Amino acid sequence: MTITQGTLTNQSIIESELAHTSGVYPKRGIAIVRGAGARVWDADGREYIDCTSSQGSANLGHAHPAVVAAIQEQASILMSCTEIFPNDQRAAYQEELTAALPAGMERVFLCNSGAEANEGALKFARLLTGRRGIVAAKRGFHGRTMGALATTWEPKYREPFEPLIAGVSHVAYNKLDELDAAVTAETAAVLIELVQGEGGVRPADADYVQGVARICRERGALLMVDEVQTGFGRTGRLWASQHYGITPDLMPISKSIAGGLPMGAIGIHGRHGTLPPATHGTTFGGNPLTCAAAGQRYGCCKRKTCHDRRLRKARI
Ligand SMILES: Cc1ncc(COP(=O)(O)O)c(C=O)c1O
Repeated sequence: MTITQGTLTNQSIIESELAHTSGVYPKRGIAIVRGAGARVWDADGREYIDCTSSQGSANLGHAHPAVVAAIQEQASILMSCTEIFPNDQRAAYQEELTAALPAGMERVFLCNSGAEANEGALKFARLLTGRRGIVAAKRGFHGRTMGALATTWEPKYREPFEPLIAGVSHVAYNKLDELDAAVTAETAAVLIELVQGEGGVRPADADYVQGVARICRERGALLMVDEVQTGFGRTGRLWASQHYGITPDLMPISKSIAGGLPMGAIGIHGRHGTLPPATHGTTFGGNPLTCAAAGQRYGCCKRKTCHDRRLRKARI
């Protein structure tokens, strides 16, 4: 099947994709070709409300005008710039992001996806503590790269790829006594979501989260809160951590960070200082294009209905 612009139909696009795709995605029967705000259109012209928010990556809606303008402008200036060289867009965005993160999170590592953010944060937890163990939650989801996958609970995602990284244990969510027994002097980090998304949209109890934070503090383990799904206003506050009054040591974020472009980040609490040089890195992380798009999250268009404006308010 040849795809020719102007003759596209759902059927032709679906057939073409199925002929060349890896097969890991169970494909739905509509081909989405355009989006604006909360709406998307298929190739046959049918309109839908995107209740998936593009798997949580379109909190600002599709094709937000401020994000589109920022991408268009930056694309003609500079798209790619390794982090070895400082860059104006990256510097500005890091300032904005650290100002918006829960108080005390003064540093960030910029990357390209949620799994990558978790992957990096797991490495940072081991580097910062010199310990190896990770305690994660049953029904938790943290991504599908080998390290992140080791912390993801669903056996059908994990088992075909074992052995994964050693030292990971899973305990029942919202059950503090199980976590209490699992966190030892060898635990580098406890990794939790504050609302388990993939695990069934299950919020953490306030007592549980306070208890997890206390146990981490007492035993020298880092509190690693995966806000990939819950971040950027998804739970009504900018960060779900704000509902619980906690500040994580490490906070992987992603999804709608750059208005729909692929980006992720790890928030790092200032008390940990900087990491040793050359211990981690990525070619595209912190590139000027995604930083320019991400900066638009806080760049409000000043209209009363502006999504950004509401997010800014929620941050206070
Ligand atoms: C809580 C959480 N962490 C990590 C990820 C992985 O993010 P990505 O798909 O960008 O690798 C997801 C994806 O849905 C997620 O919901």
